[in-house]
Amino acid sequence: MTKALSNPQLVVALDVPHTSVALTLARTLAGTAPWCKVGMEMFTHAGPALLEELAGLGYKIFLDLKFYDIPHTVAQAVKVAAGIGVDMLTLHCQGGERMCRAAREAVSSLPGKKPLLFGVTVLTSFAPGEMPGVSESPADFALTLAKGAQMWGLDGVVCSGHEASGIKASCPGLMCLCPGIRPPGSAVDDQRRTMTPAHAVAAGADYLVVGRPIIAAHDPRAAAEQILADMTSAVAGI
Ligand code: C5P
Repeated sequence: MTKALSNPQLVVALDVPHTSVALTLARTLAGTAPWCKVGMEMFTHAGPALLEELAGLGYKIFLDLKFYDIPHTVAQAVKVAAGIGVDMLTLHCQGGERMCRAAREAVSSLPGKKPLLFGVTVLTSFAPGEMPGVSESPADFALTLAKGAQMWGLDGVVCSGHEASGIKASCPGLMCLCPGIRPPGSAVDDQRRTMTPAHAVAAGADYLVVGRPIIAAHDPRAAAEQILADMTSAVAGI
């Protein structure tokens, strides 16, 4: 199992509808965030070719397709993603033990570079009481899923910054990747369980995923640099 990072890393979510927009943003931001995240919108539009271009700009690639299917299908998809060179990918913890273990075995069976596997716990857009059939609070359910993810061999989980400290305390060595990050004063959008970059770092987040506060900013590079500065100050304060 991979150990937690001593320095949290910024991941920019390239949630835009066209390849040209994604590449313009990626070039603008090159040298700031080390990671970029390609999700279902952009990957459906652009496919693997975009990932190669982004890697060529020096980014590590996080493919966020949140796999959730029968174990065999997920294992095969994970192998294909690894084959196109992604550095990190997501699957839903709610896919359960057999699906997550199948993904882990698929990665272990590959030669060469192996992508990190992150399990999605509870989407940060869920408010308490909104998850169909789940009576646990989002935080409790996320912790339950994180414990499973660790037992089933995943490298980390995707969770709200509000859940990171509890997960880090209960699951030592499991990494936390936190979306729903909002710099002080910025719009919450559709997110419900948000946290500032500094608070997420203080809570133990290993990766901070930021989309709209950077990509929709008037000056995306300045927005990314401000978030990086907030992260650095927060690390110094830990
Ligand atoms: O624009 P914003 O910063 O809200 O973008 C957050 C990104 O993180 C989006 O790409 C979203 O799909 C992703 N994400 C999330 N909550 C999760 C998992 C992923 O917001 N639990």
